[in-house]
Amino acid sequence: MAAADPASMQRLGEYALRYVKPGRVIGLGTGRAAEAFIRVLIASGIKVRGVPTSRRSEQIAREGGIEIVGLEGVDRIDVTIDGADEVDPHLNLIKGRGGALVREKVVGSASRREIILVGFEKLVRHLGEHHLLPVEVVTFAAPLCLRRLKQLGLRPSLRHNEDGSNTVSDNGNLIIDCKVEGKINPRRLNREILDIPGVVDHGLFLGIAHTVLVAQPDGKIKTMTRPRNAAS
Ligand code: A5P
Repeated sequence: MAAADPASMQRLGEYALRYVKPGRVIGLGTGRAAEAFIRVLIASGIKVRGVPTSRRSEQIAREGGIEIVGLEGVDRIDVTIDGADEVDPHLNLIKGRGGALVREKVVGSASRREIILVGFEKLVRHLGEHHLLPVEVVTFAAPLCLRRLKQLGLRPSLRHNEDGSNTVSDNGNLIIDCKVEGKINPRRLNREILDIPGVVDHGLFLGIAHTVLVAQPDGKIKTMTRPRNAAS
């Protein structure tokens, strides 16, 4: 059984429903796991308001009858349910394979609780072990950002669509995917990337996830929780 198979995603989505109460404001993540959750939420009939992290998630939620609100319409987001590309033992993440990292970080950071749904294969010892680290940049600055990211020891390249065109995010920006060499210091790299002019944000999510639900090979779901004030 592949960890990211639809059945695992479905189980994760159903499990995550226990964190949703009627009347609450729910951050709606992006990607397969998040979509599975949105569809379970729709099927449940629980009335909530949703803050989507991408046009795609917004469309699915809207079509399913979930009331969509923007950040101007809510005081706080009660809980956000999203996926991730990698999860380290401190519950730090790499996100953004789906290109929604900026909105995901805004919504996740504004949430009282961020819950991440992943298959067991997403657990790593060090971030960057398997996946590329995405960085969203404004188009004008992309050549400079590519050079600076290289100077940080990363191996950056612009993300392209299947037809060869540049991938453009929902925010109208470009995405640079960075291969990480060896073990990184996530806190330092976070600062160094944000210091590059033209960078909007990147896919390192440090200290944002509170709970990670992991689909295990035996079909069970394991809950990992970040202790309050834990060093990350
Ligand atoms: C979207 O930009 C991403 O952050 C996704 O949440 C992440 O790539 C996980 O996606 P899957 O659930 O499809 O693996």
